[in-house]
Amino acid sequence: MTISGIDSIIYDVSDLTLVRRFFSDWGLHLAEEGYSGATYRCARRGTVVLQRSETPAVEVIWAVDSKASLDALASDLDGDRDVRVDGNGTVHTNDDSGHAMGFRVASVVGDEAFAAGRRAPNERFEPPSAVSPNRLGHVVYLVSDNLDQAAAFYRERLGFKLSDTIRGRGDFMRAPGSSDHHSLLLTTRKDQSGFNHVGFQVDGLDDMMLGGKIMESRGWKTSFGPGRHLLGSNLFWYFESPTGGETEYYADMDVLTDDWKPGIWEPRADLAYAWLARNEPYDPSFTAPPGGLFLRRDD
Ligand SMILES: [Fe+2]
Repeated sequence: MTISGIDSIIYDVSDLTLVRRFFSDWGLHLAEEGYSGATYRCARRGTVVLQRSETPAVEVIWAVDSKASLDALASDLDGDRDVRVDGNGTVHTNDDSGHAMGFRVASVVGDEAFAAGRRAPNERFEPPSAVSPNRLGHVVYLVSDNLDQAAAFYRERLGFKLSDTIRGRGDFMRAPGSSDHHSLLLTTRKDQSGFNHVGFQVDGLDDMMLGGKIMESRGWKTSFGPGRHLLGSNLFWYFESPTGGETEYYADMDVLTDDWKPGIWEPRADLAYAWLARNEPYDPSFTAPPGGLFLRRDD
């Protein structure tokens, strides 16, 4: 059984008009619309499904490689939690922290790194005129207790691989069929819990900056960024989402193979980013300790 990444994210929203405007501004393609909801598609893979509801909710649907894998997974999970199969064959259940999740056979199987590449020889830079996120890349949940158990479910039951750990604070994991540094982060932040954000991959810095500027020009609010994370190395720009939580444009994330050795990092405030262009304080007195910024396991 291989989970290759995120297939779709389903939001239950009360203000459908507002959320539709948000995802249209975000650069997604509107595939279907109606009174009760709408479906948006990323340029290469992944859908955002909006369902009109008085109770906000979010469910992440993971892509599985085959029907046989999906059936095996459903039967395994059925042993210790509620499992429901809907009319489209999507399997719905909850993770060990109670987050709604689902699985379906992927329309595209296999890994899609889509790393930003070099330009062809003798070609000038072509500025993007619009932003069209490639795909759904990762989701992040805040987990207030039993972080180890919450992470163990994804690793031991679903085959996710550990990419990096912040000691006692969170695990970056990648779906077993993905080479992204993370498809999932489970992390603690004070006593908060629940869905935190979903990351949409774009081609590179220019797309991310243009996307962010377009969103700001249309009145949407930056929550963090733009900047570059240290764990995962990705460029980021987060926006407050009317669905609850945040959405993120990201690019240039680490691409991992099985040769990667997970790092164990001490929690530090500066672990979150390498630089920020705005909105966040920068401490010019900070200097990296001898041996580099972080402790890295070398076994
Ligand atoms: Fe992210």
